[in-house]
Amino acid sequence: MNNPTLESIFHRRSIRKYTDQMVEPEKLDLLLQAAMAAPSAMNCKPWEFVVVTDPDKLASFRTRLIFGNRNAPVAIVICGNPRLSTNPAARLFWVEDCSAATQNILIAAVSLGLGTVWVGVHPVAEFMRIVREIAGLPKHVIPLGLIYIGYPAEEKSSRTQYAADRIHWQKYKKDNHQI
Ligand SMILES: Cc1cc2nc3c(=O)[nH]c(=O)nc-3n(C[C@H](O)[C@H](O)[C@H](O)COP(=O)(O)O)c2cc1C
Repeated sequence: MNNPTLESIFHRRSIRKYTDQMVEPEKLDLLLQAAMAAPSAMNCKPWEFVVVTDPDKLASFRTRLIFGNRNAPVAIVICGNPRLSTNPAARLFWVEDCSAATQNILIAAVSLGLGTVWVGVHPVAEFMRIVREIAGLPKHVIPLGLIYIGYPAEEKSSRTQYAADRIHWQKYKKDNHQI
């Protein structure tokens, strides 16, 4: 294909097994730069990131988040902080803004030879409470999700999940999905 961007997009898969190798600080810095290159509503950038490498905290995420038991050496908690959105209309879009930042990290990680998995936190109250507590978030800062990052200890194939029946040209075709 010879298109590194598309190759990274298709090669991004959820990696749930990691080696013990630590992620280099320069790579973490690049991932955070990629995150903050994301688009955001009215460019309010209502995001903040808690980078966790402390083994005890990682163990707490692993044991307390039922869908988050992954052995990665790094976790980044993606947070929305409404106080950073100066515009009330833009404040409504913090989930989209933080999701765009999250996806940028996932794709950038592939290009650096790293694996990732997005662990959903918001809007499940119990997951938010756990992550808030471990990451020490103040009340007004909302954890959208957590990304585990590390060197993959499992291989997954590149793929698209392209489905022609999910595409509508000009107008939605009602009988496409009988739900
Ligand atoms: C909002 C969101 C929440 C997710 N939560 C979890 C999770 O808690 N644990 C997990 O192992 N994977 C989680 N995933 C990863 C999905 O299971 C995964 O993206 C999906 O199965 C498709 O596989 P792929 O990422 O390899 O393409 C989540 C993904 C998203 C977008």
